Amino acid sequence: MEFNSIQEVLDFAVRQEQKAGRFYGLMAEKSTDVVARKFFREMVGEERKHEAKLKAIKSGKLSGFSGQGTPQMNLTEVLGEPVFREDITLQEGLIIAMRAEKDAYEMYEGLKAFARDEELKKILEGLAAEELEHKARMESIYDQVVQREN
Ligand SMILES: [Fe+2]
Ligand SMILES: [Fe+2]
Repeated sequence: MEFNSIQEVLDFAVRQEQKAGRFYGLMAEKSTDVVARKFFREMVGEERKHEAKLKAIKSGKLSGFSGQGTPQMNLTEVLGEPVFREDITLQEGLIIAMRAEKDAYEMYEGLKAFARDEELKKILEGLAAEELEHKARMESIYDQVVQREN
């Protein structure tokens, strides 16, 4: 995916966080599995916090980015289309979620490379680490679900 400015990447990132939050909210509503429901609810809260952090960066820390070039990111944009269906299974939802988390991780890693301000770099590092942790937690729930169903 090509971006023309850091601002554009940040706008994209905000939208991705919003989409992730919405998707996880729907998955939480749909899940009859107690563990999955609790997990997705927690994820909604986390992605909202990410959205708020990004908005704070946009309104105050833009100067912390290098003005040279823009990140080229290898994103699949899993959340680019309506991915939620009424008959989605927990397994399918988790597969989408794991891919979305990988994208989110790549996105923050990509942005991090353009941060020249140390504090900004730390914030982006934190975001990347959290997305990676989300992905790992999803993988572990996925393994439990698959094991139970087979
Ligand atoms: Fe996020
Ligand atoms: Fe996440």
